[in-house]
Amino acid sequence: MIEALVFDAYGTLYDVHSVVRRCESFWPGRGTALSAAWRSKQLEYTWLRSLMGRYAPFSQVTLEALRFACEAMKLPLGGEQERALMDEYTRLATFPEVASFLQKRSGRRAILSNGSPDMLDPLVAHSGLRFDAVLSVDEVGVYKPSPQVYELAVQRLRIAKERIGFVSSNCWDAIGAKAFGFQVYWVNRGSAPLDRLGFAPDGIVSSLQDLP
Ligand code: 2OP
Repeated sequence: MIEALVFDAYGTLYDVHSVVRRCESFWPGRGTALSAAWRSKQLEYTWLRSLMGRYAPFSQVTLEALRFACEAMKLPLGGEQERALMDEYTRLATFPEVASFLQKRSGRRAILSNGSPDMLDPLVAHSGLRFDAVLSVDEVGVYKPSPQVYELAVQRLRIAKERIGFVSSNCWDAIGAKAFGFQVYWVNRGSAPLDRLGFAPDGIVSSLQDLP
């Protein structure tokens, strides 16, 4: 029996690669590669900072990852581009099925995200999606997949972990949530292989619409 659905935000509900268009407008032909490098460095920094015990908000991590990615790709990043691209993160597109999926489902639902409130709150408001709670790792000062993050959802929703259905498109996040004890669905949008981390999600779907 699942009492609430808890969603990851970036990559699951919101498409981080919707920044490609803006990247392309600044550096034609390099947008897709920059977006991929930016996202990958952003995640890497969350894991490294967690291991270092040096949490910094996701807005800072995201900006620092952008600066690194641009330097690595030799793309000149001025103040205007920086502001515009960071701004894109508060207006990311939702994946096509998200709004109708949420409309059709009743029951409690929440977001549990790496995003700091300064990024996440405007994003959720802009998308018009409604949740009973929007929870940020910022409250615990460590990033996913730390068990402390998943525990935050248990504490705030006051629902036992076995009765929380966690949904993420990030395989490592889905596996972290499974190791913690949620019922987990991995939205494998890109038909990726399963990460070898000792756990497997309870279900694998290709879009939210296929969730049981
Ligand atoms: C999120 O927490 C992991 O980016 C992912 O929203």
